[in-house]
Amino acid sequence: MLKGKKIVLGVTGSIAAYKAAMLVRLLVKEGAEVQVVMTPAAKEFITPLTLSTLSGKPVLSEFFNDASGAWHSHVELGLWADAMIVAPATASTLGKMASGIADNLLVTTYMSMKAPVFIAPAMDLDMYAHPATQHNIEVLKEYGNHIIEAASGELASHLNGKGRMEEPENIVKALKDFFFTGSELSGKRVLITAGPTYEKLDPVRFIGNYSSGKMGFAIAEECARRGAKVTLIAGPVSLPLPHPAVERIDVESAREMCDAAIAQFPSCDAAVLCAAVADYRPKVQAGRKIKHTGEGMTLELEANPDIAYTLGRMKGEGQVMAGFALETNDGEENARKKLEKKNLDFIVLNSLEDKGAGFACDTNKVTVIDRKDKTVYPLKSKKSVAKDIVAHLSKLLVALLLLVLPSTASAEGEELNATVNLNASKVQGSNTEVFTMLQDALNEFINSRKWTTNTYEENERIVCSFNFVVNSYSNDGSFDCSLMVQATRPVYGSSYNSMLFKYEDTSIKFKYQPYDRLEFVEDNLDNNLTAVIAFYVYTIIGMDLDSMGELGGSEFLNKALNIANNAQNLGDAGWRAGSSNNNRYSIIDDYMNGAMEPMRKLMYKYHRLGLDTMFKNADGGRKAITECLPLIKKAYEDRPMAYFTKLFTEYKIDEIVNLYSKCTPEEKKEVVKVLSEINPSLSTELDKITKNDN
Ligand code: CTP
Repeated sequence: MLKGKKIVLGVTGSIAAYKAAMLVRLLVKEGAEVQVVMTPAAKEFITPLTLSTLSGKPVLSEFFNDASGAWHSHVELGLWADAMIVAPATASTLGKMASGIADNLLVTTYMSMKAPVFIAPAMDLDMYAHPATQHNIEVLKEYGNHIIEAASGELASHLNGKGRMEEPENIVKALKDFFFTGSELSGKRVLITAGPTYEKLDPVRFIGNYSSGKMGFAIAEECARRGAKVTLIAGPVSLPLPHPAVERIDVESAREMCDAAIAQFPSCDAAVLCAAVADYRPKVQAGRKIKHTGEGMTLELEANPDIAYTLGRMKGEGQVMAGFALETNDGEENARKKLEKKNLDFIVLNSLEDKGAGFACDTNKVTVIDRKDKTVYPLKSKKSVAKDIVAHLSKLLVALLLLVLPSTASAEGEELNATVNLNASKVQGSNTEVFTMLQDALNEFINSRKWTTNTYEENERIVCSFNFVVNSYSNDGSFDCSLMVQATRPVYGSSYNSMLFKYEDTSIKFKYQPYDRLEFVEDNLDNNLTAVIAFYVYTIIGMDLDSMGELGGSEFLNKALNIANNAQNLGDAGWRAGSSNNNRYSIIDDYMNGAMEPMRKLMYKYHRLGLDTMFKNADGGRKAITECLPLIKKAYEDRPMAYFTKLFTEYKIDEIVNLYSKCTPEEKKEVVKVLSEINPSLSTELDKITKNDN
């Protein structure tokens, strides 16, 4: 997950600086490129030579190179990086970062950083506990930084307590977790309401509540991390956007929140209603500030709409809805009443009687109640609670796979249903119009071109996303972009989409000027950008057709292979035979190799005979999938480096875990055995198969 990621590691003057050496080693081992920036004080604890040797790059510490006078540009570092880690971060550096005191290269780099920043504090326990440090940590969190909390243990002072820098292995894990994007909710749209609502009394006063919005924001982040498209309707809160894949709609009052939710809900697969909506609003909103009279006053209130109740009436087949119940007494009984009344699929109960649960804290203690069952969870951080809730949501969405009847609506037949996104935040400052025009041109090119002569029904259309990140751009129209391309196919008779293709292309070089038309002519590949897109589109269509009929995608896969063969001279390493096991050329060359034919046949068996039959014959469908497992193992043994084996052993693993949540213990045992032989590092995921029992 960190392969090819560019990381700035900021090291400050703490005794824990020696651990930075291990951190650099681990990051480099994961395939990351590391640029170390040290504060002058850090050099007292570890030599720049150690860190430059391990990272393979000169360490930066001063604004200027003394010998040449060259400027070390913190601005460029801010644009270059995919992430910054400050580890160890001393109390003094935390203070400087929180208040913008930019008197060394590390802090200026932090302040120019466009990428997410992770901070691992390290200091003595009293300094860590000091209100000034705690305040600075809170401020840095509010700015959207990720704090990797200090651990407890023996400190350099020989005192015991909290303040030790988290171990390098755990820092790397935090980073890997952040960059992980799952596929479990890929193709799903989730609506979330969060925060309080404010009900105006007059131009300067309102009725509100203490909701911080943190729980809803954490759920939005978790859904996005699992691949969903999230619409977050937020009341007035001071929280940053939780994830780039979240679309945020800010509202103030209950009525505004309700209108936005009603507009969004019909196109969503799920809704999680976390907002603490004011049940009442002042009947009259004064146009002018209400004057002090010295007398008492009576405020007349009228009822606000109940958003959960309204959406519960609108809820259609295939949609899942969850709500929260904040109770002070008779928690379970009240929560069950709300579950019924609001037509929810499950409700998350938090009781104000539990310490650490509720509004103004970072922890929560919840019980998830659905129509059959309840699960009581211990006190956890709101982020961990979000993981539990989203896991529950995802399980219900997969369960619908077995229940929902076929939708046969036919539509104008376009094969792709692509969303295109171009993120130019790394190169902003230059001409932004060109990026908007390129995004529009890409959208038009991918979605309007007829890539096949086949007719696709609405319920057969592939869902895919092309997410470009502009890594560099110059005014002559030269671009270097990375691209995350992902595609799912609908599972017959359900609203579930199954992962078909997912690949991160780290570098696509091409030229584009405003008003250029994007064109693609087969066998005349003078435009690298359109060649790359045509390559992915044909690969995706080919894989989709392979999943519909045995080896059914050959025509399109051969088109993709042809592009890869012809593009060898385009001067882009992604096309070059033999230069990598993981580039465009090797993806298609591996897949079309005769030795992989059993793997291609397996696409059909798994999807068509397995998944597509599950809604009417769950046991039969699962049996077909079980028969695929030894074939996946064989493909993995024959060509362990081939990209396509990953489809099953990494990208579909959540789906497989869910599919086996309901079967006999013998079947579970057999599946876990085969899958763990394929990839032993999946053991945590596979444990879920054994534990799941519904
Ligand atoms: N909710 C909502 N709109 C409202 C009130 C509540 O969407 N006007 C949602 C909340 O987001 C939550 C669930 O309904 O998911 C339950 O909210 P809660 O405040 O506990 O319940 P109320 O219905 O307001 O009942 P009461 O205040 O009497 O406990």
